[in-house]
Amino acid sequence: MKQDWIKPGKTIGILGGGQLGRMMALSAREMGYRVAVLEPGPDSPCGQVADVQVEAAYNDLAGAEKLAELCDILTYEFENIDANTATWLEQQMYLPQGSDLLSITQDRIQEKRAIASFGVPVVPYQPVETYVHLQEAAEDLGLPAVLKTTRGGYDGKGQRVIRAAAELEAAWEEMQDKGPFVLESWISFEKEISVIVTRSVHGELSVFPVAENIHKNNILHKTIVPARITKETEKEAEKLAEHLAMSFNLIGTLAVEMFLGQDGKLYVNELAPRPHNSGHYTINACATSQFEQHIRAVCGWPLGSTELLKPVVMVNILGEHMEKVMEHVRDIKGAHLHLYGKAEARTGRKMGHVNVLAETTEEALKEVNDSPIWSSEESMRRITTGGN
Ligand SMILES: Nc1ncnc2c1ncn2[C@@H]1O[C@H](COP(=O)(O)OP(=O)(O)O)[C@@H](O)[C@H]1O
Ligand SMILES: [Mg+2]
Repeated sequence: MKQDWIKPGKTIGILGGGQLGRMMALSAREMGYRVAVLEPGPDSPCGQVADVQVEAAYNDLAGAEKLAELCDILTYEFENIDANTATWLEQQMYLPQGSDLLSITQDRIQEKRAIASFGVPVVPYQPVETYVHLQEAAEDLGLPAVLKTTRGGYDGKGQRVIRAAAELEAAWEEMQDKGPFVLESWISFEKEISVIVTRSVHGELSVFPVAENIHKNNILHKTIVPARITKETEKEAEKLAEHLAMSFNLIGTLAVEMFLGQDGKLYVNELAPRPHNSGHYTINACATSQFEQHIRAVCGWPLGSTELLKPVVMVNILGEHMEKVMEHVRDIKGAHLHLYGKAEARTGRKMGHVNVLAETTEEALKEVNDSPIWSSEESMRRITTGGN
């Protein structure tokens, strides 16, 4: 189904009702669209701001059919949409992003193979399906390494770091039901960075400023922009993201997570075919947000400027930070608060984020570091609950 200009007033359907869908929906509404969302849980972050929520599982074709009746165009906010549903919807409806990139990024091995096939470096890895594979892969790659489920992982879930051969058996015991896996060399990286690239249905390409990311407990904690990297690395990261976008024939948004190795080289860690947590800074710090850009791209608008208006630090608000937010956020100079409307503040659950704008990233970082909101991080208990 080919259509390249979806006029304001039409209805955009979003698969998935989380915070990314919510922020997409808010941008869509600002641009004059109506929004419908498919999400099994009631009162979802996206459902709260959409015109309609179809409450159905992602693999429930009756639900998908209902969504299809309501919408003129379809997009998705997360990549773990059931592939059958996505294929079915692609046939029934206008899904300009297609479902190919979706299915590739659903599987870490397919994703790594595709990236490598375009000449882009990935961290050394081996597929693992049995304990013997694990032993062999550990032997070949060396330790430490990280065992990751090929499907369904996010925020460090479905991952187990293996530091020494003596841990192999325990790691397998713990993980074996969740396979297949990939074993990856553990990189002692210099920095983690990411680039968000957008390509419209007309083939116009845009790249947002490179972001420097700091994770805690495998969950994104802070994004710093401009990233504190050399001009050459910045150019290389942008080039790489553009190259991947072109190679995949991207339509919509692609987030490219990279490690900057101690050798100064960039390795792609993973891809997300949608707006990304490390792009939330764009909402307040760029001329166009990643969400507006995404809507522009799929609905056939010219893309907006990705110019950085001011240095920024984005900090995530997790469940354990919520109590202090109300009291202390007002003391952070230059802070813009975004909350996702989630009722239950579980430990490790993403509840919102703050964008802190300042004249320099040092100033913004000082504001964040001086705030008591995130100060008890070190004493944080191991995350046992969580989820989107
Ligand atoms: N091979 C690796 N070497 C070093 N750190 C890693 C490696 N793989 C993952 N990590 C750390 O864990 C975080 C989450 O892993 P990632 O593969 O991005 O999974 P997800 O974001 O889907 O949970 C990364 O951002 C990085 O901080
Ligand atoms: Mg990641």
